[in-house]
Amino acid sequence: MMAKTTLGIFGLGTVGTGVVALLRDNPQFEIRAIAIRDRHKPRELELANIELTDDPFKLADHPDIEMLVEVAGGIDPAYEVIKRAISNGKHIVTANKELIAKHGPELFALANEHKVTIFFEAAVGGGIPLISTLQRGLQANRIARVAGIVNGTTNYILTKMEREQQSFADALREAQAAGYAEADPTDDVEGRDVVYKISILSSLAFQVPIEVEKIYRQGITQITDLDIKLANEFGYRIKMIGLAQPGEDNEQALDVRVHPMLVPRHHPLASVEGVNNAIFIKGSAVGEIMLYGPGAGRFPTASAVVGDIINIASALKLPDFAQYFQLPIRSEACEIFPIADTTNAYYIRLETHDTPGVIGTLGHAFGEHGVSLHSVTQKGVNSEGTATIVLLTHRVKEKQVQAALTQISAQATTKQIGVVLRVLI
Ligand SMILES: NC(=O)c1ccc[n+]([C@@H]2O[C@H](COP(=O)([O-])OP(=O)(O)OC[C@H]3O[C@@H](n4cnc5c(N)ncnc54)[C@H](OP(=O)(O)O)[C@@H]3O)[C@@H](O)[C@H]2O)c1
Repeated sequence: MMAKTTLGIFGLGTVGTGVVALLRDNPQFEIRAIAIRDRHKPRELELANIELTDDPFKLADHPDIEMLVEVAGGIDPAYEVIKRAISNGKHIVTANKELIAKHGPELFALANEHKVTIFFEAAVGGGIPLISTLQRGLQANRIARVAGIVNGTTNYILTKMEREQQSFADALREAQAAGYAEADPTDDVEGRDVVYKISILSSLAFQVPIEVEKIYRQGITQITDLDIKLANEFGYRIKMIGLAQPGEDNEQALDVRVHPMLVPRHHPLASVEGVNNAIFIKGSAVGEIMLYGPGAGRFPTASAVVGDIINIASALKLPDFAQYFQLPIRSEACEIFPIADTTNAYYIRLETHDTPGVIGTLGHAFGEHGVSLHSVTQKGVNSEGTATIVLLTHRVKEKQVQAALTQISAQATTKQIGVVLRVLI
């Protein structure tokens, strides 16, 4: 009989429970031990014959465990546990985006040194087989763009705001009630979760380490239901996007950023609704593809984790197999364009005093900074004499738009700059 592959599972929450449920009856595997925080918490699964511990380092040091599956999350103690497990010659499967985004290159180098491998399919896009597509399926391509809706919470909120004309606050409250948003939703609505994910995707697509703190980030909290309605009228939907592409006039630098965008209604990303995720990739040989599906949830995520476990277990039969999965690791991180140097079209909503000539003044300020306007629309005047004006620009460098807006905010006719959003083109 073939020897079973022995596993240690660190974490038995949403994802860990799914992983154990999928593996329990698989004769190819034996779960030797599971690490959890609270040994007294009731568990959904029968865990007879499996050692339970509240010390995850025991899994890293366990002489009978070949593969450590980390589905606990966070940096502390996952980072140290994984380093110890690698140093002890164990293969790693993890769903931890924060860990891979912040410490990936160091962990991959350590894994290479110890001739083991790290798989992390579940770290981005939950159940969507996205990492393996970038790592293996698209190797023949030079990647021209990766653009993703990779945060279900923000997509759910934006979809609710659009469908039910809800405010951001109401849509967030519903997302929390439905279990799609955390009690503290900051990481999601401020874009930090997407930063981790796009940094992983771009480092695979462009084969360079990316420093997460260099990635520009804008959340969705400033978007109003009026913006969503107006974007619709202009033929767009507003989506939270993680974007990565080579620099336009500097191929050595990458343009990687996270912010809401107006997506043209005919673009495949515009049709992604609710908690679903989708990643649009443009490759030199394949053309445009989009991978779509559930970005979170117990069994979709466990599907990705268990897929990794099975793949490693199959490869274990090959001599020196880990070298086939070594990631191209360059030591120096890639230069990332400052947001001011990126080129975009813009949607700008302003509030001004309703005085004659105000639109002329705005047009003049944009013209002075070389910003060409595609359209200017006045959207009514409220009882306090505030006019809402919406402008769409042609493609232009962000620093020119910023310079024009600095001038406009100093003008007596301007009450406030409501929101500035970039348009996906
Ligand atoms: N949930 C999703 O849909 C989803 C999707 C994609 C990726 N992921 C990623 O998958 C990972 C796990 O997420 P999850 O939603 O399953 O988390 P979760 O439900 O909070 O479960 C975390 C598990 O880890 C255990 N744990 C945490 N810290 C520990 C420590 N110091 N020592 C021992 N055990 C510890 C917890 O023990 P107790 O049970 O005793 O509290 C719990 O069983 C995260 O990296 C997450 O980003 C999740």
